[in-house]
Amino acid sequence: MDRGKGRQPNPVGIEASLVYHSGMRNALDLETVRLSDDGRSVIILDQTLLPGKAEYRELRTPEEIWTAIKNLQVRGAPAIGVAAACGVAAVMQQENGSFEEASRRFSAVKAYLETARPTAYNLFWALDRMEKVLKGQTDTAGLKKALIREAEAIRSEDIAISRSIGELGFSLLRHGDGILTHCNAGSLATAKYGTALAPVYIALEHGWNDIRVYCDETRPLLQGARLTAFEMQSAGIDTTLICDSMASYVMKKGLVDIVIVGCDRVAANGDAANKIGTSGVAVLAHHYGIPFFVAAPSSTIDMSISSGAEIPVEERSPEEVTEMWYSHRMAPEGVKVLNPAFDVTDSSLITGIITERGIAYPPFGEAFMEMLSGGM
Ligand code: MRU
Repeated sequence: MDRGKGRQPNPVGIEASLVYHSGMRNALDLETVRLSDDGRSVIILDQTLLPGKAEYRELRTPEEIWTAIKNLQVRGAPAIGVAAACGVAAVMQQENGSFEEASRRFSAVKAYLETARPTAYNLFWALDRMEKVLKGQTDTAGLKKALIREAEAIRSEDIAISRSIGELGFSLLRHGDGILTHCNAGSLATAKYGTALAPVYIALEHGWNDIRVYCDETRPLLQGARLTAFEMQSAGIDTTLICDSMASYVMKKGLVDIVIVGCDRVAANGDAANKIGTSGVAVLAHHYGIPFFVAAPSSTIDMSISSGAEIPVEERSPEEVTEMWYSHRMAPEGVKVLNPAFDVTDSSLITGIITERGIAYPPFGEAFMEMLSGGM
């Protein structure tokens, strides 16, 4: 079990060592999310403070876990799933009543955490998987232990899955490639390694030092500027930050050989929801003839919906657009603001979807059936 024991600084309990300047460390060494050693709380790296500060938070109550997910202190589809799984396991450690009472408490906490964010399928997948643990149990003590085991398994599997995605994605890379990515689908968005950025980490392990990464800044919450640019630069990658509106410029100049993005939910036909702005990047890549890949664990595929039209898209507060990050408001008072957090890229624009089970190519429906039935 990897709980980061022996790592310095210890994220819990020693106030003075909670904060350090993130520029001093490779982001890959920062643990995104894990259970505390006693299993009674969840430890998350507060991503809202990056890249200036790497600071951990200890979450104990359902409300604290819900708020950390809602406010993007822990974010990125796989990391949200791991946080929810660890969260429900930790909260349940406080239960000492009958098995029936504990089961009712589990259902209430699960239903509550599911309301934190609507788009990332991994949140629902992870909580459903935790719920299955109840079936094999008859007493509260056994249930508590089994929930911890399952949450630890979800977390460690996420690390292994991300590495597999990285290795498969690496097979698509050529020396000297320029990779454009949107939002953050790196180590910080998962338990480790990431999805879209995992191939870059694998390339580094192979001694490749000629990969270039273009990071879209990703308005309005700047996950590309704050997180991806930090991750890639701190890993020693040739990293260039661009505003979202500059993607066409760098593509036209021939600087981008491949686009790789993460994903929050894939429909059965291959339509893929990711951070707002992704579908525009896909349209541009199509225009310039650049391959556009989506990288995601197979648990991101929602076979219950036939197309992306059914993916619920989160809408967030207007202030994220009008004033957040600015020293004063940058839009007229009272102006109408639209702030969808995600958009859906049409499957016709996607070259392939890299999962831990293989790379799916169109027609995606058939590829997913084969992949999920174990054929790939
Ligand atoms: O709002 P966020 O920061 O949670 O959005 C994250 C993304 O859009 C990621 O690209 C996606 O979750 C994939 S993470 C491997």
